[in-house]
Amino acid sequence: MTEIRRPDNMERITTPELANAFIEEQLAALREQIKDQKVLLALSGGVDSSVVAALLIKAVGQQLVCVHVNHGLLRKGEPEQVIEVFRNQMKANLIYVDASDRFLDKLAGVTDPEQKRMIIGNEFIEVFAEEARKQDGIRFLAQGTIWPDILESEAGIKAHHNAGGLPEDLQFELVEPVRILFKDEVRMVGEALGLPAGMVYRQPFPGPGLGVRCPGAITRDRLEAVRESDAILREEFAKNGLEGKVWQYFTVVPDFKSTGVKDGKRTFDWPCIIRAINTTDVMEVTVEHLPAELMDHLVSRIIKEVPGINRVLYDFTPKPPATVEYE
Ligand code: XMP
Repeated sequence: MTEIRRPDNMERITTPELANAFIEEQLAALREQIKDQKVLLALSGGVDSSVVAALLIKAVGQQLVCVHVNHGLLRKGEPEQVIEVFRNQMKANLIYVDASDRFLDKLAGVTDPEQKRMIIGNEFIEVFAEEARKQDGIRFLAQGTIWPDILESEAGIKAHHNAGGLPEDLQFELVEPVRILFKDEVRMVGEALGLPAGMVYRQPFPGPGLGVRCPGAITRDRLEAVRESDAILREEFAKNGLEGKVWQYFTVVPDFKSTGVKDGKRTFDWPCIIRAINTTDVMEVTVEHLPAELMDHLVSRIIKEVPGINRVLYDFTPKPPATVEYE
């Protein structure tokens, strides 16, 4: 583990010039550390791992092996964007693993939220380890650890989820080029590296993905309703200038049905819950109040376009008492 720490007097990266200076420094340091060896990276498409990938592609090119695991709980268009940006545009060495069936089969019938998380986490490590074993001569493992991760794990607030987890036979030296950065600095660096704005200013997305927004036992049809309604919500937020302004927004499709009526016939379908929140520290969260016309439009689009939904609800509950996610 590298023991690089953020110097107390380090200037906050707030301009493209400072971001470029950081990039130049890091490229030199990465080349010095990695030399002609190979580096492995689990690339989720989130801001941190994407910035690490972009830095490493610049620093060592084809010596970087990116693995993008699709656990079947990603949002609509996510794997396609990762492939487009990293394989097609940046010419990265990218392995795409569609493990959706494997995850969804393991999750079938599992209702306990903690057990769902555990299955997703363990399966992820297993899939990644299998890919890692197929590679020869990997010396380093790159991670998108950032400075708040270090501070939180030192303060005992949360286990620093990036570190460790791989089996004994897969022990690598760590490469953590954004370790000393705060999130806003990572975004600045991402922009300076030419990553698309949609990737750099992406809202937070939990590791277990849409799995925590499909409460109870995940079924493919209900998961699809979550994915489709989420895509509509994101599209409408972007169109209405709310992208990048509202901290986090998503849909949840709970596991119960209610009666409705469509074309003169009775329906019995799921509700779709919309949640849109703002926060600075995620410990306390307030609810974003949407304009009435946008609400009406969202209801009509979701009902019309998402199979299995006959009712749209809005969650007005702050945190506390509710958490952001439903599981
Ligand atoms: P809660 O539901 O705890 O969520 O109020 C607070 C923030 O954390 C995100 N979240 C997660 N992120 N893995 C993650 O990487 C997780 O298991 C996880 N659970 C919640 C959530 O989206 C929100 O931004």
